[in-house]
Amino acid sequence: MPEAGGRRPLVAANWKMNRGAPAEARELAAAVRRELEALGLDPGRPGEPEVVLCPPYTGLAAAGEALARSGLELGAQDLDPRPAGAFTGGVSAAMLLGAGARWAIVGHSERRLVYGEDDAAVQRKVAAALQAGLRPILCVGETAEERDAGRTEAVVGRQLAAALAGLEAAALGRLVVAYEPVWAIGTGRAAQPEDAAQVAAFIRERAGRWLGGDAAELRVLYGGSVKAANAEGFLRQAELDGALVGGASLEAAEFAAIVAAARRRGGWG
Ligand code: PGA
Repeated sequence: MPEAGGRRPLVAANWKMNRGAPAEARELAAAVRRELEALGLDPGRPGEPEVVLCPPYTGLAAAGEALARSGLELGAQDLDPRPAGAFTGGVSAAMLLGAGARWAIVGHSERRLVYGEDDAAVQRKVAAALQAGLRPILCVGETAEERDAGRTEAVVGRQLAAALAGLEAAALGRLVVAYEPVWAIGTGRAAQPEDAAQVAAFIRERAGRWLGGDAAELRVLYGGSVKAANAEGFLRQAELDGALVGGASLEAAEFAAIVAAARRRGGWG
């Protein structure tokens, strides 16, 4: 059993721009619920991994109906950090909470690279989410070029420092960081578990130092081509507390198998 620092594992599904119409979101959420039940997994119980499904905004309410009284939680994939007003297309933290989300992915590399979000925008989103009571899953990670240039820690450190600016120590227990190397996302080429664990240790150490709190409270996930077949390797690493899963989260049985691997990790609860 790894020494997991007493941290409860968390497995989050990032559906991206897939299964977002209400009917399909409801169907996939119900399928995930069924598959978990078939494996005897109950994310509502304290001794079990936490499970968060993140559909597109338009699927939140319907997925929430399918998850009612299940212990599975809902997250959004982004948020607008402003509270309300003339911001066409924006969706605020309060709106997401109203739609049933308790979590929000923030700073995903697709937001950064496709939509041009910079570190300052990510910082505003993390702060706004926490202030509203929405728990951020903050994504950080380097590109292939940055990795090849030996700049992984420099890049991840910069993203992290920017995103955590202005937060207090108590945030360490509220937010989750996902280490997602950009070259591993959607490529089928996952990181080596030992390499990911090393970056996770770096993230935990820096976050604890900067926020002046108990770094052991901070959960760090790995994301990037996680599937049932390789999940165990990541979850065996004491520094990794779970996974953020894209492609494999669209297959309910495959996703449930990843949650089962998180439960086998043990060492908490
Ligand atoms: P992937 O995506 O599992 O499809 O690589 C992970 C992510 O982008 O969060």
